[in-house]
Amino acid sequence: MSSPGDKLWGGRFSGRVDPQIERFTCSFPFDRRLALDDLVGSLAHARMLAERGILGPADGRAVLEGLAGLIDDVESGELEVDGVDEDIHSWIERSLSERIGDPAKRLHTARSRNDQVGTALRLFARRQVSGLQAELVALGSVLLERASEHLDTVLPGYTHLQRGQPVSLAHHLLAHFWAIEADGRRLIRCHEAAGTSPLGAGALAGTPHPIDPERSTELLGFSRTFANSMFAVADRDYVVELSFTCSLLLVHLSRWAEEIVLWTSSEFGFAKLSDAIAKGSSIMPQKRNPEPAEILRGKAGRGLGDLVAHLVQLKGLPLTYNSDLQEDKEALFDVVDTANGSLATSRVLASGLLFDPDAMRQALYGSFVTATDLADWLVVRGVPFRSAHEQTGLAVKKAEELESELWELPLEALQECVPLADESVYEVLAPEKSLRAHRSAGGPAPERVREQLERARGQLDELTAWCELQTEPPVLSLHRDGKLLEDLPA
Ligand code: ARG
Repeated sequence: MSSPGDKLWGGRFSGRVDPQIERFTCSFPFDRRLALDDLVGSLAHARMLAERGILGPADGRAVLEGLAGLIDDVESGELEVDGVDEDIHSWIERSLSERIGDPAKRLHTARSRNDQVGTALRLFARRQVSGLQAELVALGSVLLERASEHLDTVLPGYTHLQRGQPVSLAHHLLAHFWAIEADGRRLIRCHEAAGTSPLGAGALAGTPHPIDPERSTELLGFSRTFANSMFAVADRDYVVELSFTCSLLLVHLSRWAEEIVLWTSSEFGFAKLSDAIAKGSSIMPQKRNPEPAEILRGKAGRGLGDLVAHLVQLKGLPLTYNSDLQEDKEALFDVVDTANGSLATSRVLASGLLFDPDAMRQALYGSFVTATDLADWLVVRGVPFRSAHEQTGLAVKKAEELESELWELPLEALQECVPLADESVYEVLAPEKSLRAHRSAGGPAPERVREQLERARGQLDELTAWCELQTEPPVLSLHRDGKLLEDLPA
């Protein structure tokens, strides 16, 4: 059991904290994942203090060098982020003290763990967004690649899980692409949302020291500085926004996963699972189970749980910082990890699926997927759509009775239901012809899908360019360039 003296707050205590309370309140087992972010936040704070002369030259140098050394050693793995500390903030101060002694005691000047943890969590969120975006772009590229192979592969598109109208496999795959592309744009907004620096808000009421929060913002690469010290330490909206974005992404991936489960079933047979993406059964030797896709489908529930956890933690929480907020870490870590793993898995699934164009084509039979084209053919000839719908319905009934496809119905039989019908109607009844005729903007005709692919590539390039623009916090670059101690007051 640790004694009050080991804590950042031991002074006014004389008794020990109960071990159960100690274990229950300790965040170090999980918030040590923020070590580098918290060290970078500390480095910016120390540099700002030194620039303002709040830390004297000798102490400033010692603290900055000490923190930079910790960053290097944590990054290289030489120093393990380990111990009996209460949280990552305590670990940093203890580790710094062990290295540089007394000057370490000045690092926490004009700072509280409340603005400190917000700073670290925002840096973490921004880093995660960049990583997620890179995974998302990788998945998007595979979807585009697979789509570009199948502009002429025709299959039924479904509504109500009933065969509806012919589409191409390319068009279908691109529908999934656009869902995640929107997630990519939402991720950029999450990065923006996490870009308000809370550093300098102190516990809740700022500080009497002549700090320069704008400078801290700049050193950390954030986009703006908090406007209200109370909101700065109470705000976790960026956590909610990132959790929501990850959850919605997981929901989108679950729809992709469900498609894989359905399509690889014997009932559909539109695709087969390559060995790389299937699992066997321990009892039924013949089985090839779509387990990775099923697990992917299940991950959405988990992500949504994390999102709800955040919202419930915030609901009715009085201003400003409350320890409930300590609970945000694990749920946020979980949702971003889940989203990352699910993106990577979705990509592997997209590469590993063996599509079966013949089975897809086969599914166009027996379900009258070009009935709407017949109705549209009549509309073009002046028949009101409602009447055209009625006549086409009769034609479908007739085809059903004769166990025929619409395009195989003899003209006389067709004319019994559709008096205007002539030979030219057969031009629109074959599925491939229907596909080619659906040339409206964003439609499945190959020439439209070619344009769609072009547009999709452009969007993906934008997301890639965004990833490439992301850089380390400037204070870290100062350190890497050996300029951390430059231009400080003598
Ligand atoms: N472990 C805390 C958290 O995760 C850090 C901030 C604690 N602040 C405090 N006054 N206890 O939110």
